[in-house]
Amino acid sequence: MSVSAIIPWVVGNWKMNPVQADACALVRSMKELLEIAPIAEAQCHLGVAPISIALTQIQAQLSTANRAVYTVAQDVSRIPGTGAYTGEVSAELLADSNIGYVLVGHSERRELFADTVEILKAKIKNALNAGLTVIYCVGESLEQREAGQAEAVVLQQICDIAAVVEAEQWKRIVIAYEPIWAIGTGKTASPQDAQAMHAQIRQGLSQITGYGETIAILYGGSVKPENAVELATCPDINGALVGGASLNAESFLQIAQAFANTQ
Ligand code: 13P
Repeated sequence: MSVSAIIPWVVGNWKMNPVQADACALVRSMKELLEIAPIAEAQCHLGVAPISIALTQIQAQLSTANRAVYTVAQDVSRIPGTGAYTGEVSAELLADSNIGYVLVGHSERRELFADTVEILKAKIKNALNAGLTVIYCVGESLEQREAGQAEAVVLQQICDIAAVVEAEQWKRIVIAYEPIWAIGTGKTASPQDAQAMHAQIRQGLSQITGYGETIAILYGGSVKPENAVELATCPDINGALVGGASLNAESFLQIAQAFANTQ
């Protein structure tokens, strides 16, 4: 299989948004727009990551869409199973609610909630062992980029998890490269810079695992309809993790269409 055979993923990370009524309206609009302009499942995986208390409600609403739209958890506990862990949601409990996908390692969790490498490793191990697919986020800060360390930082973030991913669990890993300086800032990495980093990530993955050529590597950081077409033409950019623009159904699906058109 070659890189061009990877089906793109476009996933909306809703972060700590929106209120319930707006989330329901957003899903309703997505379903209506997908009826008017269908996007085939074979052309693009689609997913949305709502706040944890909305996961099952959004999933139920999406179950009547004309195609699969995955419901993705934004986080998972570092503790497996069940037990006296106030406030936590384990991978097994996500799986028990048929939530099959989870974001791990988003820079907001690394920076604001002290998700260390050891914590991220535990989260990924638990998620994979519970059968979930993990969207693992990596990315450098502006300081690291300006110091010429971007590649080294990102490749280290990939190496960090290698010890806890068993050989055939790599099939359930998706990577999202999100340069921190591009998140929510309106600044996107240029398609050339993003492609160069994605190619490095793929090379790194190929050295660690036999699945380097089949792992989807998504770009995230101010993706919008205006820049999605160009990003989608880059051979190693296999989709997008979208923040702000995913809160508007039309923008989100325009981005998905840009990636679907490459298939
Ligand atoms: P923005 O698209 O709002 O920059 O957010 C990107 C992001 O963090 C997705 O996880």
